[in-house]
Amino acid sequence: MTELLQEAEKGKYAVGAFNCNNMEIVQAIVAAAEEESAPVIIQASQGAIKYAGLEYIVGLVRVAAAGSKVPIALHIDHGTSFEQVMRCIREGFTSVMIDGSKLPLEENIALTNRVLDVARAVGVSVEAELGKIGGTEDDVSVSEREASLTDPEEAKIFVEKTGVDALAIAIGTAHGQYKGEPKLDFDRLEKVRQLVDVPIVLHGSSGVPSEAIAKAIKIGVSKVNIDTNLREAFVNRTREVLAANPNEIDPRKILGPAREAMKEVIKEKIRLFGSSQKA
Ligand code: G3H
Ligand code: 13P
Ligand code: ZN
Ligand code: NA
Repeated sequence: MTELLQEAEKGKYAVGAFNCNNMEIVQAIVAAAEEESAPVIIQASQGAIKYAGLEYIVGLVRVAAAGSKVPIALHIDHGTSFEQVMRCIREGFTSVMIDGSKLPLEENIALTNRVLDVARAVGVSVEAELGKIGGTEDDVSVSEREASLTDPEEAKIFVEKTGVDALAIAIGTAHGQYKGEPKLDFDRLEKVRQLVDVPIVLHGSSGVPSEAIAKAIKIGVSKVNIDTNLREAFVNRTREVLAANPNEIDPRKILGPAREAMKEVIKEKIRLFGSSQKA
């Protein structure tokens, strides 16, 4: 992942990181990346691993990557325990996120360094998180919002004390569907960009207007995480197919169109991120 993000930084584009939970999603991500000739990151959350099983996720992505012409990184999304992250490395993940964002700064640094010690030895990339990227269900006041956003000075300290490969920051995005339009703190992003020299990651990017995504990439984001938009494409197309064909009993006639819908969304994102034709 580090190589993909360093290229992206140089080329001033971002690599899409898409969450997978099953075979159709993996196939949609890889087909989209190939049609766009784009490098891509496939990521699995702890929830995805619980649902599909660690070996299934790795097996699916291994098969997809082996037959693919584009570079693919397999990344654990929001790994929260040292043990979980180690299991993923052993099974073949090429990249991990250790999310110590709920911890006090020094503990987050210590946990990240513990993961880095092992990851460095085996050539696996590490993403960390500083600041709290909430969910859209969280009702936050202005002062709570300020407290949850990444402090640029802390980001500088964090990167100096860890040398992490990529840093996820909180600038006003949230996981899930937004109720209104998200307000991104671009000044904060610029300050972080000036103070740290590692690739910056934007989480909760589904539902962020395209112009805001483009602006964030222009300022210096090089990995953009998308999950919710894939869920929407999958489920909306499934509903449409079932509504039009209430007697359909062949899962392939339902999941095939859902996979196609996800692929189209991913291709649009890849073009928006500027990673098309960068493989
Ligand atoms: O970061 C959140 C992603 O959308 C993954 O969500 O934990 O429900 O798989 P999940
Ligand atoms: P969205 O579901 O809001 O796109 O967030 C995805 C994400 O940040 C995964 O880590
Ligand atoms: Zn996230
Ligand atoms: Na979102």
